[in-house]
Order: sequence, then structure tokens, then C-alpha cells
Amino acid sequence: MPIKQYFELDNGDRMPMVGFGTWQASDSVLEKAVESALAAGYRHFDTARAYENEAALGRALRRWIGDDSHRRKELFVVTKLPPGGNRPELVQEYFDASLKDLGLDYVDMYLIHTPFAFEHVPGDLHPKNPDGSMRVDNSTDLLALWKAVLKLKETGRVRHVGVSNMNVEQVSRLSAVSVPAALQVEVHALCQQPALVAAMAARGIPVVAYSPLGSKALADMLAEKTGREYPDLLQLPPVTRAAAAHARSPAQVLLRHTLQRGVAVIPKSTDPGRIKQNISVWDFELSESEMSELSALDRGEQGRICDFSFFINVDKHPEFPFKK
Ligand code: A2P
Repeated sequence: MPIKQYFELDNGDRMPMVGFGTWQASDSVLEKAVESALAAGYRHFDTARAYENEAALGRALRRWIGDDSHRRKELFVVTKLPPGGNRPELVQEYFDASLKDLGLDYVDMYLIHTPFAFEHVPGDLHPKNPDGSMRVDNSTDLLALWKAVLKLKETGRVRHVGVSNMNVEQVSRLSAVSVPAALQVEVHALCQQPALVAAMAARGIPVVAYSPLGSKALADMLAEKTGREYPDLLQLPPVTRAAAAHARSPAQVLLRHTLQRGVAVIPKSTDPGRIKQNISVWDFELSESEMSELSALDRGEQGRICDFSFFINVDKHPEFPFKK
């Protein structure tokens, strides 16, 4: 059965199911990677104020757009409010800074990056205490913040607003005011979040999977810090078996598995060959038995990589989204 290549949003805008992730890519490397991604057919680009790469992404996108306003309409650009901006009175200021760095007239989607908050410290997106713990702002009023983010739509500079790293209860709470246009969370073979994916499908909220390939750089960094082992998703037997059966790469199998679950993916790569590979996922289909084998890899909460343990103290924030 063919799967959809876009999520259709409430005003008819289309969010491509495969986007290009940009976290942890440095400026010059990112600009080249974005050029490769555009050439390979990516039109959905995901960044965040906290990634500190909006200017580089914007430069590459603007070069591609040139004078052709139709090209801007082809793109779906997403950025996010950083945790240091999670107060209603700061939303406009942080949004303006993102738009200025991107050098665009509008963004397609603006997300609240995390439900927890840091103190607002101008010039420092990740403020720390002398002991290395985060300067957490525990006074977050998520509903008031959501209302301020929704107001951005009135300016015409944001087409859709959504959320990231929230749990079902938090999304439900916000939905009572206005249903988020998307939820971006970690989803991959070891962390499939079936209950959350089903709850969002029931509400008609598109889910976008970050770290769909298991974010090796983050896993390596955490493994070094904590001693915890993170399996390489690309080498899991059900993944390599399906890859061999379809003459595709393990990465393509992982992406296709998530796409066949109805979840969008935003893989990252800086290699032109792998960038192309990651969007070439439409011409094969995993069988029901392959899907079940891959679905059986889920480790629930144990499979989560991005648990924010690298931000010491955020787990004590009243809105920290994940269960221990
Ligand atoms: P590279 O940039 O060298 O391609 P995620 O999207 O889950 O965060 O994973 C990103 C990581 O996966 C990066 O280390 C990236 O390395 C690697 N990667 C991306 N695409 C592929 C692919 N098709 N095959 C193998 N590794 C990949």
C-alpha cells in the first residue's frame, strides 16, 4: 500500500513526511549539506534557536530561493522557541531573532522546543550554575506560553504552531486551547512510543520523529558520560535482514519503518550520498512480518536516547515530560 508523502495541515499546507534534520551541524558543513539536501529533493528543513545554526540554514535556503518567490512556497521551514524563552513575554523577542537569522519573511512551523524552561539570560541559551547544573526556571505556565505562541500566527510570520518533547497529558492540556499543528518527539526502532503515536493519530496531530536513525553522535556522547550502552540501530538483525531482502540500506529500512507507522522523519546527515539515500524511501515496502519484527525492537522508555540527562536538574522541573 502506498504511504503518504505529506501531512496535509489545516489550511491545506503540506508538510513533507521526510525532512532534513540539522542539529549538531556546524555552519560551513551545514550549508553544504543543505545544498545537497535541496538537490536531493528535500523541502522540509528542521532547525531550532538552540541549535545556533539558523543563520547558516537561512543562507543556504536563500541562495536556493534566489528571486523566485515560488521556491519559498515549496519549502517547509521549522524552527523552535528555546527553553530560555519559555515565558509569554519573551516569545516575540525569541521568534524575531530566529526569523532575522533565517533571513526569511515567515516560517512554516514554530514549535515550543521543550515543556521545561531555563532562565532567560541574554546571549546564553544554556545558562548553567557554577556546579554545571542548568539554571532552570521552575515557574513555567505552559498554557500561558502556548497562548503567546498562538498569537504569533496573527502576525502572518508563522503559518503553523506546534510543540516538541511533550507527553500526551501536556498535548491534551494545550489542545483544550488550540490543537498543536504537530508534535516532534524522539521516535525510532528502540523508542517507538506506540501509545503516544496512537493518541496523536486519534487527535489528528502529525508526529515528527527526531533521531530516527538513533542519533549516534548524541548516543556516543551520553555513553561516554554515563557508561550506558546504546546499541547501533543500523546493525540490529531485523534491520539488516530487511535491508538485505529489499536491497536497501539499514538506514532506509529504519526510516521506512517509521514512515509506514504514519510518522514523519527528519534524519540528519552531512554526507551527500547518505542525504540522498535518506529521502529515497518511496520505492519499496516493508511486509507485515518485517514491520512486526521491527516493531518488536521497541524498548519503551529504556530505548530513549535524548532523555535530557545532559541538562542536569531539568528532570526536577514541574513540566519535565518523561517518566523515569
Ligand atoms: P553522517 O552525517 O556521517 O551521515 P539521526 O538523524 O538519528 O540523528 O542520526 C544522524 C546520524 O546518522 C549521523 O551520525 C549521520 O552521520 C548518520 N547517518 C545519517 N544517514 C545515514 C545513513 N543513510 N546511513 C548511515 N548513517 C547515517
